[in-house]
Amino acid sequence: MSNSTAGDELILEGIVTTLNADGSPNISPMGPRVDREVTWLVLRPFRTSQTYQNLRRLNEGVFHVTDDVELIARAAIGQLSDVANLLPARGVQGVMLVDACRWFAFRVVELDDTQERTTIHCSVVATGTNRDFFGFNRAKHAVIEAAILATRIGILPAKQINAEMERLAVPVEKTAGEQERRAFKLLREYIARSATADS
Ligand SMILES: Cc1cc2nc3c(=O)[nH]c(=O)nc-3n(C[C@H](O)[C@H](O)[C@H](O)COP(=O)(O)O)c2cc1C
Repeated sequence: MSNSTAGDELILEGIVTTLNADGSPNISPMGPRVDREVTWLVLRPFRTSQTYQNLRRLNEGVFHVTDDVELIARAAIGQLSDVANLLPARGVQGVMLVDACRWFAFRVVELDDTQERTTIHCSVVATGTNRDFFGFNRAKHAVIEAAILATRIGILPAKQINAEMERLAVPVEKTAGEQERRAFKLLREYIARSATADS
Protein backbone atom coordinates (compact mmCIF):
# COMPACT_ATOMS: atom_id res chain seq x y z
CA MET A 1 0.00 0.00 0.00
CA SER A 2 1.26 3.44 -0.86
CA ASN A 3 0.97 5.65 2.16
CA SER A 4 1.17 9.05 0.54
CA THR A 5 -0.43 11.00 -2.24
CA ALA A 6 1.96 13.82 -3.01
CA GLY A 7 2.19 14.43 0.74
CA ASP A 8 -1.47 15.44 0.97
CA GLU A 9 -2.50 13.56 4.08
CA LEU A 10 -4.85 14.79 6.76
CA ILE A 11 -6.99 13.70 9.68
CA LEU A 12 -10.63 13.01 8.91
CA GLU A 13 -13.00 12.77 11.87
CA GLY A 14 -15.66 10.11 11.50
CA ILE A 15 -17.12 6.93 12.94
CA VAL A 16 -15.72 3.39 12.69
CA THR A 17 -17.98 0.36 12.94
CA THR A 18 -16.55 -3.07 13.66
CA LEU A 19 -18.05 -6.37 14.80
CA ASN A 20 -17.64 -7.67 18.34
CA ALA A 21 -16.89 -11.37 18.94
CA ASP A 22 -20.62 -12.03 19.53
CA GLY A 23 -21.53 -10.39 16.19
CA SER A 24 -22.95 -7.21 17.74
CA PRO A 25 -21.78 -3.86 16.30
CA ASN A 26 -19.21 -1.62 17.95
CA ILE A 27 -19.52 2.03 16.94
CA SER A 28 -16.72 4.47 17.81
CA PRO A 29 -15.73 7.93 16.70
CA MET A 30 -12.21 7.86 15.27
CA GLY A 31 -10.04 10.34 13.38
CA PRO A 32 -7.80 8.35 11.04
CA ARG A 33 -5.10 9.84 8.85
CA VAL A 34 -6.26 9.55 5.24
CA ASP A 35 -5.27 10.56 1.74
CA ARG A 36 -7.49 13.18 0.12
CA GLU A 37 -9.35 10.57 -1.97
CA VAL A 38 -9.70 8.26 1.07
CA THR A 39 -8.22 5.21 -0.63
CA TRP A 40 -6.43 4.25 2.61
CA LEU A 41 -6.62 5.11 6.28
CA VAL A 42 -4.35 4.80 9.28
CA LEU A 43 -6.17 4.27 12.57
CA ARG A 44 -4.44 4.77 15.92
CA PRO A 45 -6.70 3.23 18.58
CA PHE A 46 -5.36 2.34 22.01
CA ARG A 47 -4.79 -1.34 22.80
CA THR A 48 -7.57 -1.04 25.41
CA SER A 49 -10.17 0.00 22.81
CA GLN A 50 -12.79 -2.33 21.42
CA THR A 51 -12.06 -1.08 17.90
CA TYR A 52 -8.48 -2.35 18.18
CA GLN A 53 -9.61 -5.72 19.60
CA ASN A 54 -12.14 -6.17 16.80
CA LEU A 55 -9.75 -5.16 14.02
CA ARG A 56 -7.10 -7.51 15.34
CA ARG A 57 -9.63 -10.36 15.28
CA LEU A 58 -11.55 -9.63 12.07
CA ASN A 59 -9.29 -7.28 10.06
CA GLU A 60 -12.28 -5.44 8.62
CA GLY A 61 -14.52 -2.49 9.35
CA VAL A 62 -16.34 0.51 7.94
CA PHE A 63 -15.33 4.17 8.30
CA HIS A 64 -18.11 6.77 7.97
CA VAL A 65 -18.11 10.49 7.28
CA THR A 66 -21.12 12.38 8.54
CA ASP A 67 -22.44 15.88 9.20
CA ASP A 68 -24.82 14.40 11.81
CA VAL A 69 -22.98 15.45 14.96
CA GLU A 70 -25.60 13.82 17.15
CA LEU A 71 -24.39 10.46 15.78
CA ILE A 72 -20.80 11.36 16.70
CA ALA A 73 -21.86 12.62 20.16
CA ARG A 74 -23.88 9.47 20.89
CA ALA A 75 -21.09 7.20 19.64
CA ALA A 76 -18.58 9.07 21.85
CA ILE A 77 -20.57 8.35 25.01
CA GLY A 78 -21.62 4.80 24.08
CA GLN A 79 -25.27 5.68 23.41
CA LEU A 80 -25.50 4.77 19.74
CA SER A 81 -25.18 0.99 19.33
CA ASP A 82 -28.72 0.30 20.60
CA VAL A 83 -30.46 2.93 18.46
CA ALA A 84 -28.33 3.18 15.31
CA ASN A 85 -29.92 2.67 11.92
CA LEU A 86 -27.68 -0.08 10.47
CA LEU A 87 -27.45 -2.11 7.27
CA PRO A 88 -25.04 -4.94 6.42
CA ALA A 89 -21.81 -3.53 5.02
CA ARG A 90 -20.78 -4.08 1.42
CA GLY A 91 -17.32 -5.49 0.67
CA VAL A 92 -16.50 -6.52 4.25
CA GLN A 93 -18.06 -8.24 7.25
CA GLY A 94 -19.64 -5.46 9.24
CA VAL A 95 -22.36 -2.85 9.37
CA MET A 96 -22.99 0.48 7.69
CA LEU A 97 -24.53 3.51 9.43
CA VAL A 98 -27.46 4.53 7.25
CA ASP A 99 -27.46 8.09 8.64
CA ALA A 100 -23.84 8.77 7.60
CA CYS A 101 -23.10 10.71 4.39
CA ARG A 102 -20.31 8.50 3.02
CA TRP A 103 -18.97 5.08 3.96
CA PHE A 104 -15.63 3.39 3.31
CA ALA A 105 -15.37 -0.36 3.87
CA PHE A 106 -11.77 -1.17 4.74
CA ARG A 107 -9.43 -4.09 5.35
CA VAL A 108 -6.39 -4.08 7.63
CA VAL A 109 -3.13 -4.46 5.71
CA GLU A 110 -0.67 -3.88 8.56
CA LEU A 111 -1.16 -3.76 12.32
CA ASP A 112 1.54 -2.58 14.72
CA ASP A 113 0.56 -3.07 18.36
CA THR A 114 3.99 -2.89 19.95
CA GLN A 115 3.01 0.47 21.54
CA GLU A 116 0.04 1.19 23.81
CA ARG A 117 -1.34 3.34 20.98
CA THR A 118 -1.49 1.03 17.98
CA THR A 119 -1.00 1.90 14.30
CA ILE A 120 -3.32 0.13 11.88
CA HIS A 121 -2.88 0.66 8.13
CA CYS A 122 -6.04 -0.08 6.17
CA SER A 123 -6.97 -0.20 2.53
CA VAL A 124 -10.41 0.95 1.37
CA VAL A 125 -12.08 -1.89 -0.56
CA ALA A 126 -15.55 -0.45 -1.22
CA THR A 127 -17.14 2.96 -0.84
CA GLY A 128 -20.50 4.65 -1.28
CA THR A 129 -22.58 7.77 -0.64
CA ASN A 130 -25.86 7.71 1.27
CA ARG A 131 -26.64 11.44 1.02
CA ASP A 132 -25.08 14.87 0.53
CA PHE A 133 -22.97 16.52 3.22
CA PHE A 134 -24.81 19.51 4.69
CA GLY A 135 -21.82 21.86 5.02
CA PHE A 136 -19.78 23.70 7.64
CA ASN A 137 -21.29 25.15 10.75
CA ARG A 138 -19.53 26.41 13.90
CA ALA A 139 -21.90 24.51 16.18
CA LYS A 140 -21.13 21.23 14.39
CA HIS A 141 -17.41 21.78 14.94
CA ALA A 142 -18.05 22.68 18.58
CA VAL A 143 -19.99 19.44 19.14
CA ILE A 144 -17.12 17.40 17.64
CA GLU A 145 -14.67 19.11 20.00
CA ALA A 146 -17.04 18.51 22.91
CA ALA A 147 -17.37 14.82 21.92
CA ILE A 148 -13.58 14.48 21.97
CA LEU A 149 -13.55 16.08 25.45
CA ALA A 150 -16.18 13.55 26.60
CA THR A 151 -13.85 10.71 25.58
CA ARG A 152 -11.02 12.32 27.58
CA ILE A 153 -12.71 12.41 30.97
CA GLY A 154 -10.21 11.10 33.50
CA ILE A 155 -7.33 11.93 31.13
CA LEU A 156 -7.69 15.71 31.01
CA PRO A 157 -8.25 17.73 34.22
CA ALA A 158 -11.99 18.30 34.90
CA LYS A 159 -11.30 22.03 35.20
CA GLN A 160 -9.90 22.15 31.67
CA ILE A 161 -12.83 20.15 30.26
CA ASN A 162 -15.35 22.46 31.93
CA ALA A 163 -13.57 25.59 30.69
CA GLU A 164 -13.49 24.21 27.12
CA MET A 165 -17.16 23.29 27.30
CA GLU A 166 -18.03 26.84 28.36
CA ARG A 167 -16.08 28.22 25.41
CA LEU A 168 -17.72 25.76 22.99
CA ALA A 169 -21.20 26.70 24.23
CA VAL A 170 -20.84 30.11 22.52
CA PRO A 171 -20.80 28.93 18.85
CA VAL A 172 -23.48 26.36 19.71
CA GLU A 173 -25.65 29.14 21.10
CA LYS A 174 -25.07 31.29 18.02
CA THR A 175 -25.30 28.78 15.15
CA ALA A 176 -26.90 25.48 16.24
CA GLY A 177 -30.05 23.87 14.93
CA GLU A 178 -31.97 21.32 16.95
CA GLN A 179 -29.63 18.41 16.16
CA GLU A 180 -26.52 20.33 17.30
CA ARG A 181 -28.31 21.65 20.41
CA ARG A 182 -29.46 18.16 21.40
CA ALA A 183 -25.98 16.71 20.83
CA PHE A 184 -24.25 19.42 22.88
CA LYS A 185 -26.78 19.03 25.73
CA LEU A 186 -26.23 15.26 25.74
CA LEU A 187 -22.46 15.74 26.04
CA ARG A 188 -22.77 18.47 28.67
CA GLU A 189 -24.99 16.26 30.81
CA TYR A 190 -22.67 13.26 30.36
CA ILE A 191 -19.65 15.34 31.41
CA ALA A 192 -21.53 16.76 34.41
CA ARG A 193 -22.61 13.24 35.50
CA SER A 194 -19.01 12.00 35.27
CA ALA A 195 -17.83 14.93 37.40
CA THR A 196 -20.42 14.05 40.05
CA ALA A 197 -19.37 10.37 39.95
CA ASP A 198 -15.71 11.42 40.46
CA SER A 199 -16.33 13.66 43.45
C1 LIG B 1 -14.27 12.89 16.82
C2 LIG B 1 -13.50 11.88 17.64
C3 LIG B 1 -12.33 11.33 17.14
C4 LIG B 1 -11.60 10.38 17.85
N1 LIG B 1 -10.46 9.84 17.32
C5 LIG B 1 -9.77 8.91 17.99
C6 LIG B 1 -8.60 8.34 17.44
O1 LIG B 1 -8.18 8.68 16.32
N2 LIG B 1 -7.94 7.39 18.16
C7 LIG B 1 -8.38 7.00 19.39
O2 LIG B 1 -7.75 6.14 20.01
N3 LIG B 1 -9.49 7.52 19.94
C8 LIG B 1 -10.20 8.46 19.28
N4 LIG B 1 -11.33 9.00 19.83
C9 LIG B 1 -11.77 8.51 21.15
C10 LIG B 1 -12.49 7.16 21.01
O3 LIG B 1 -13.70 7.31 20.30
C11 LIG B 1 -12.79 6.63 22.41
O4 LIG B 1 -11.59 6.32 23.05
C12 LIG B 1 -13.69 5.40 22.39
O5 LIG B 1 -14.02 5.12 23.71
C13 LIG B 1 -13.06 4.18 21.78
O6 LIG B 1 -14.11 3.26 21.69
P1 LIG B 1 -13.96 1.69 21.52
O7 LIG B 1 -13.40 1.16 22.78
O8 LIG B 1 -15.37 1.27 21.26
O9 LIG B 1 -13.08 1.47 20.34
C14 LIG B 1 -12.06 9.97 19.13
C15 LIG B 1 -13.24 10.52 19.64
C16 LIG B 1 -13.96 11.47 18.92
C17 LIG B 1 -15.22 12.03 19.49
